[in-house]
Amino acid sequence: MGKKILGSAVCCALLVLWTAGWAIAGAHGEKPVKKEAILLVVFGTTVPEALKAFDNIEAQVKQAFPGVAVKWAYTSRIIRDKWRAEGKSLDDPIVALGKLLGDNYTHIVVASFHALPGEEYHDLVRDVNAFKNISGSHGRKILVSRPLLSSRESMETAAKGLLNHVPKTRKPQDAVVFMGHGSEHHPGDAVYAALNFWLGDMDPNVHVATVEGQPRLSDIIPKLKAKKVKKVYLMPFMLVAGDHARNDMCGDDPESWKSELTKEGFDVECVLKGTGEMPEVVKIWVENIRAAYSHFK
Ligand code: CO
Repeated sequence: MGKKILGSAVCCALLVLWTAGWAIAGAHGEKPVKKEAILLVVFGTTVPEALKAFDNIEAQVKQAFPGVAVKWAYTSRIIRDKWRAEGKSLDDPIVALGKLLGDNYTHIVVASFHALPGEEYHDLVRDVNAFKNISGSHGRKILVSRPLLSSRESMETAAKGLLNHVPKTRKPQDAVVFMGHGSEHHPGDAVYAALNFWLGDMDPNVHVATVEGQPRLSDIIPKLKAKKVKKVYLMPFMLVAGDHARNDMCGDDPESWKSELTKEGFDVECVLKGTGEMPEVVKIWVENIRAAYSHFK
């Protein structure tokens, strides 16, 4: 997942402001009419079956904020390019914000749908701040809402929500391993260990490991063996059951978690359901949007 260069974000935003003809609006002392929007920001996915997570998110957000405009932004350039090739145009957060200002929106929550305050969340905050600096305030408010796991309460609620979606066929002696993404941002990455603590407290056979951070699956396998686990349910702890869930978690590749665990002698069952499809989990993000939104009163 690539980093964006600040310079290009600022340059891009200036271009958008200019093309939107917005730059002079509000400069003549008239007070702008309050117009509110929520910009849902996700990494994005190219997996069509995974899009139902986004449909669910949009429905829950619209229900919680009736009458407020809801827009989308995808942070991944690769994913935006793939959709563009199929004729679907998607904006990055800066372009989407430029368009919203061009349409005279004055109060905007940039809704993070990140799992935790890792690298991508911090990139978003940085880009939005850069955008705010160059676009000026003019009585407008643009706020970024918190990611999913940003308090003890959210940690416990998310853990309970995740457990609700474990298939009912699972027996207590079967283990569940959630696949988190992992972050190169170490304080953010430590949140997975914290989630592991809460989940383990609620159910000692439930674990979280990550693809690109800590802990890894190899840290969990000895725990499964120590408890003589026979069957493991694999589930994504990711917004969508997209590429990571379908390939790194449950693909037939010998490197996938399913293959690794099968090789270690476990029975494996895959559950392809993203957190964006879990209403109790999405509700936490919705409440984070509400907390940001409350500053508009
Ligand atoms: Co990734």
